Amino acid sequence: MKLDQKNVVLVGASSGIGAALAKVLAGKGCSLALIARREPQLIALADDINHNAGKTLARAYRGDVTQYETIEPLFDQIARDLGGIDVLIYASGVMPSVKRDEYCFEKDRAMIEVNVLGAMAWINVAAKRFETARSGVIAGISSIAGDRGRASMPGYITSKAALDAYLESIRNRISRYGVQVTTIKPGYVDTDLLAGAKTPIKAISPDQAAREIVSAIEDGAQVRYVPGFWRWIGMAVKCAPSFIMQRVNF
Ligand SMILES: NC(=O)c1ccc[n+]([C@@H]2O[C@H](COP(=O)([O-])OP(=O)(O)OC[C@H]3O[C@@H](n4cnc5c(N)ncnc54)[C@H](OP(=O)(O)O)[C@@H]3O)[C@@H](O)[C@H]2O)c1
Repeated sequence: MKLDQKNVVLVGASSGIGAALAKVLAGKGCSLALIARREPQLIALADDINHNAGKTLARAYRGDVTQYETIEPLFDQIARDLGGIDVLIYASGVMPSVKRDEYCFEKDRAMIEVNVLGAMAWINVAAKRFETARSGVIAGISSIAGDRGRASMPGYITSKAALDAYLESIRNRISRYGVQVTTIKPGYVDTDLLAGAKTPIKAISPDQAAREIVSAIEDGAQVRYVPGFWRWIGMAVKCAPSFIMQRVNF
């Protein structure tokens, strides 16, 4: 599906990949609903997009994905404001730093609440409406982290593995109705989430990630690694024997 002039809901649009996606999609003339908790950042982004476009393309909506009961009414309000919704992109995510010897339930819970339950809450609402309409696109920003249990950040890795499985299940449920579900698996992207962490492979810019994500959606991809070489790394990590996974620290 070409995304030009589509009505797009972007959850997690206040910074990083989500904010970069908003700019790329605005360049395609999309009408955008930008959602996150930090309203000033959303309003500044919407103002910037609308100023450059010379018309209102972007609207800001303050929303916390962990306030699950607010999501369905917000989805319906956005549908009324935009005159329908064609695409939902779920980019919200948190990754608090976790030390190698730290076991913190509060951090694990925060990651599950935002990265998994928030995604399920938004995607359920969209899937129900898109199935009825027999059209629509759902894209979830997962991660290479979901490919294999690893010693670093068990909670984050679990959250992304769960998101992968959820997106695949929804795809298997509603692709038969003409609804596209795309799982995006970025490698390292230079955003606040990484907070300047040293990465073994150079992080790409949020702009590059956004362009590749938009291409993946337009290509009708089911699963797309961003950039593409991460697919081969993911395959190697999935095949690695456990005794190796128990010795590495990444
Ligand atoms: N950066 C990477 O290397 C990388 C790699 C693989 C996957 N990813 C994934 O890419 C996605 C975007 O992350 P990013 O790298 O762009 O980091 P980011 O700049 O920190 O963006 C995270 C976004 O999530 C939103 N968010 C967090 N908690 C929320 C909540 N309770 N309710 C609503 N929105 C919430 C934030 O908005 P507010 O704080 O304003 O609410 C922000 O817009 C995440 O799912 C992340 O796991 C990132």
